Amino acid sequence: MKIKLRYDLSTHNTFRMKVSCGCFVEYETVKELEGLNFDKLPKPFLHIGEGSNLLFTGDFPGTVFHSAIDMIKYVDMGLDEVPVIVGAGVRFDDFVAHSCRHGLWGAENLSLIPGEVGASAVQNIGAYGVEAGDIIKGVVCFDLRERKSVKFTHDECLFGYRDSFFKKPENRGRYIVTSVLFRLSRKPVPKLDYKGVREAVSGIEDLSSQDVREAIIKIRNAKLPDPDQIGSAGSFFKNPVISANQFRLISPDGSAPHYELPDGSIKVPAAYLIDSCGLKGAECGGAAVYEKQPLVIINKSGCATPQDVLELERRIVETVRDRYGVTLHPEVDHI
Ligand code: EPU
Repeated sequence: MKIKLRYDLSTHNTFRMKVSCGCFVEYETVKELEGLNFDKLPKPFLHIGEGSNLLFTGDFPGTVFHSAIDMIKYVDMGLDEVPVIVGAGVRFDDFVAHSCRHGLWGAENLSLIPGEVGASAVQNIGAYGVEAGDIIKGVVCFDLRERKSVKFTHDECLFGYRDSFFKKPENRGRYIVTSVLFRLSRKPVPKLDYKGVREAVSGIEDLSSQDVREAIIKIRNAKLPDPDQIGSAGSFFKNPVISANQFRLISPDGSAPHYELPDGSIKVPAAYLIDSCGLKGAECGGAAVYEKQPLVIINKSGCATPQDVLELERRIVETVRDRYGVTLHPEVDHI
């Protein structure tokens, strides 16, 4: 176990903000976590994964926890459904790569999403028509209030669009995910309906989950920044859901990209709204709107400050609101 005082967090947030925390705790087993003397650690507490969905707006005075629980266990019962128990500290993409190598289906569309397995359940990460919640059967957490481990079934996790039980204001900071139980399939269950995916695998005979993974990696690399090269936190905003009337005001002829939801409301890509406001490439200090996918704010100079990002965020939100009357909400957690 690693416990460090006044610790630099630059390598623990993919935006690469130069911030620090009062104390940093990294544990490798649930036993180590259970054995901590929480009362002695500086408050407040924050648990992070790879820090790929966070914006630190300044130094954090309390304790930052990080899981290094690293295990992937298959429970092969000879059935089509293959349960897999994965430690919270495993990089999500390592789990996806591993499951595709084993010929299992279910996680391949989530290839190359930054972040770790624990956070994938909290944030219900999603891409190309699949969300983590679709393949999660259960989650094991350490309850900081009761100081004991608790299990949640899929239904108890209350998964929604980039949302879960663990993100509800009353539960924030209470539960630390220690492992996630996924439900993968030996039988092929390709999900190819998201635009661009089917074309990317057309012509492949005997399609494997590894083929789909490779296609998704190609699509993502073409429009999302390489986290090793450019700091960012992936999509900065959520795609807004508006009423059909509001959509008509934005796009009287209906030509703007949109997805109709089952309740009749309309999801509009935030990327479209930002792009059509001419904000592609817009900069504030060292932060910029990414040219290839304007939903992403990047640390362009490598030394952008939290204030640069917040200023750019404010400019985007105000410009889109003035033009379309739609308020964008960040997907990235502000700490
Ligand atoms: N668009 C533009 N201009 C652009 C780029 C895109 O107008 O320069 C429009 C296009 O109409 C495009 C649409 O925006 O069709 C949507 O773009 P895309 O399908 O690439 O992605 P998204 O809906 O903006 C979501 C997730 C991504 C995920 C992709 C793929 C959110 C907030 N983001 O983005 O997730 O990878 O779908 O499934 O839901 C993340 O959460 O960090 C993330 C990257």
